[in-house]
Amino acid sequence: MRVLPGLHPSGKLHLGNYFASIKQMVDMQEKNEMFMFIANYHAMTSLSEAKALKQNTFDAACAFLALGIDPNKSIFWVQSDVKEVLELYWVLSQHTPMGLLERAHSYKDKVAKGLSSHHGLFSYPVLMAADILLYNAQVVPVGKDQIQHVEIARDIAIKFNNEHGEIFTLPEAKIDENVATVPGTNGEKMSKSYGNTIDIFADAKTLKKQISSIVTTSEPLEAPKQWRGCNVYNIAKLFLNEVEQTELQARYERGGEGHGHFKAYLNELVLSYFKDARDKFEYYQSHREILDEMLRQGAQRAAATAASLMQKVRAAVGIYR
Ligand code: ADP
Ligand code: TRP
Repeated sequence: MRVLPGLHPSGKLHLGNYFASIKQMVDMQEKNEMFMFIANYHAMTSLSEAKALKQNTFDAACAFLALGIDPNKSIFWVQSDVKEVLELYWVLSQHTPMGLLERAHSYKDKVAKGLSSHHGLFSYPVLMAADILLYNAQVVPVGKDQIQHVEIARDIAIKFNNEHGEIFTLPEAKIDENVATVPGTNGEKMSKSYGNTIDIFADAKTLKKQISSIVTTSEPLEAPKQWRGCNVYNIAKLFLNEVEQTELQARYERGGEGHGHFKAYLNELVLSYFKDARDKFEYYQSHREILDEMLRQGAQRAAATAASLMQKVRAAVGIYR
């Protein structure tokens, strides 16, 4: 199966991103043909500062490689390194009825939230369709908010194929229904926009601070504690197998330990689980040339697929040469 996830350019990844999304992608590499890229053109719609966009793209590449995206198994590149995507975006624009974009929830939501409404934001789904169709993706793993965008890509592909023959593969969105929402430090869904995250690559001091900010009840040290509904427990259990979960439950029920102890335990769990990833992240941060070479090779492999698809598209629509 050819699977194509588009990744946000952000190196500030949190436990929610990892357990709900990145971990699945890393596991999927074993049995699928993965095309994974950092969507830096898309990020331009909400990030206008050049330095930040460049830095975020670099940090994201470090982060995803550190967390297990393996360039020997997957094709991994930065979106803007394969320019054909912009050519296809233009071609697809001719096959995109305005009504299709006017119905997009994501655009309406963003404008309602105060993002300035410009053409880039409006045509975002067409560029996303180009990402998907350029690489003949069969499956696109996305969060719920992005399903409509994959459907738009599919609609555009159907329209184009009807007119020009079977050129595009019809993609399908894949949402992992089994993935639970990862709670943040205040028990709400962990999210950058709620400021309740625990960040995988934060320095040790920041990480400790984030973990100590987890909201808990206050009881005397010796009192037995409730693990059900405890924010520390709910985050810790992501790292534990069933036996370890039972052991932690017993520690809560036994009494004699306060939430400070459980937070310290969680801190250790995060540090040991991500030890390898945190080391790799630092390594790539200080070996930019190695990272850039990996991205260059990834882009070259992606471009080979893009080139043959674009040849068919150009021929179909009559682009001279
Ligand atoms: P944020 O809410 O921090 O901005 P993103 O929207 O960048 O996170 O999330 C990227 C991916 O990670 C999406 O597929 C989203 O569904 C998933 N994700 C993020 N936070 C959580 C969470 N707390 N629980 C489950 N999935 C999450
Ligand atoms: N729009 C996606 C998001 O916000 C990111 C993205 C861009 C994407 N292009 C893609 C996802 C292509 C899947 C396929 O999450």
